[in-house]
Amino acid sequence: MSQLNIVILAAGKGTRMHSNHPKVLHEIGAKPILGHVIDCAKALNPDKVIVVYGFGGEAVKEQLSKENITWVNQAEQLGTGHAVQQAVPHLEDRANTLILLGDVPLVDVEACRKLIAHSDSKLVIQSFNKTDPAGYGRIVRSADGQVAAIVEHKDATAAQRDINEVNTGIMAMPNKYLKKWLLQLTNNNAQGEYYLTDIVSLAVAEGVQVSAEITEDEWSVTGINSKTDLVQIERVYQSRIAQKLLQQGVTLKDSSRLDVRGSLACGRDVEIDVNCVFEGNVTLGDNVKIAANCVIKNAVIAAGTKIAAFTHIDDTAIGENSRIGPFARLRPGTILAADTHIGNFVELKNAQVDIGSKVNHLSYIGDATIGKQVNVGAGTITCNYDGANKFRTVIEDGAFIGSDSQLVAPVTIGKNATIAAGSTITRDAPADSLTLCRAREQKTIVGWQRPTKIKK
Ligand code: UD1
Ligand code: MG
Repeated sequence: MSQLNIVILAAGKGTRMHSNHPKVLHEIGAKPILGHVIDCAKALNPDKVIVVYGFGGEAVKEQLSKENITWVNQAEQLGTGHAVQQAVPHLEDRANTLILLGDVPLVDVEACRKLIAHSDSKLVIQSFNKTDPAGYGRIVRSADGQVAAIVEHKDATAAQRDINEVNTGIMAMPNKYLKKWLLQLTNNNAQGEYYLTDIVSLAVAEGVQVSAEITEDEWSVTGINSKTDLVQIERVYQSRIAQKLLQQGVTLKDSSRLDVRGSLACGRDVEIDVNCVFEGNVTLGDNVKIAANCVIKNAVIAAGTKIAAFTHIDDTAIGENSRIGPFARLRPGTILAADTHIGNFVELKNAQVDIGSKVNHLSYIGDATIGKQVNVGAGTITCNYDGANKFRTVIEDGAFIGSDSQLVAPVTIGKNATIAAGSTITRDAPADSLTLCRAREQKTIVGWQRPTKIKK
């Protein structure tokens, strides 16, 4: 196999997106459109990936700066041929080049592999039979069925416009030919552009073989030009992820009401109810059940844990057989051990909770370390912030925090300590004792009467 260079064309403005952001930075599955194309390129193990950028280029480079890419600026967009010309200084003489389009996010790795495999001494273009081919370059074949030229829609004759086989824009060829052909392009056509597609007739004239690989998968060659295209491709992308999960044995209550914006790894017998969104990297262990309307980001949830409806989880690890939600919010840095219960309207942030502990109702637990078998009563708040600095609350094993308590950090509640309901704890509470701190002691007025309605 020859060396492989990949050129991704991404300089187009994307006028029809009606956006101030470059088209290729709009997202599918929370990843820039161009990021998907780069992923496909990388999967092909190229020696070099070159992205031709233009409109909003600095933002494009910045957002994808982690990628090992050669960036080439096409200051003026004078056509696809002109775009590839900008990459020529980076193309290795003995390599082959695969051309990809930066706005076609579902581009198929296997189809590209096939194109590359056949491109060692010829030009291979990927084509598609389109029911409504308007706007596309048509594949014109000679009487014996050989590819003779690509004619752009605007340059095509009425007869050529009847051709349904269209150019997808994806093609591969040896660089020694490509470099030569690019020098021969002119902009003498309906759009006044340097068409890359003109290399087909140049190849034919030179006696270099041209072949077309016809793809059946329309979505894999569909470019995004508008917000309508964007949402359509998003749904295709999501339904493909859902199908993969179903094939692996995941139960989805409705495969059309799931959004995975990142990666979702599932064990056996996982169940996911409707309208859940998974972001970043999420791992669900065996028998994990996620109820409806949960948003889960960068989380590892161990086997047997149940997440009840409307729960929001971010940067969190949850141990086995835990019960979370409904309406719980687990914020970054939360680490829950096995058998923990976090209930409704409970917010945890940077909190570590050990085995068997419960925070079941209406609490804020931030910057806290909670031991084993602790019960945190309803409405308990860790006061972790004095307006300038944050402090930790430590609650040791077996402690019981009465409802509506405030634990003013830094503070430690000792092992098996009990805090009376309604206490504001500002100093460490010793182990094995009851600590209470209430503003007023309770009193009772015997014989007190409730007010009655005044008669008019
Ligand atoms: C191109 C093809 C057409 C094919 C169609 C498939 C040419 C001349 N035509 O047409 O045969 O059927 O794609 O979608 O190649 N780009 C640049 N710089 C430029 C111009 C374009 O980087 O100066 C990039 C765009 O960002 C885009 C890609 O090249 O990613 C295709 O450009 P576009 O303007 O969409 O070409 P089409 O006219 O659709
Ligand atoms: Mg196009």
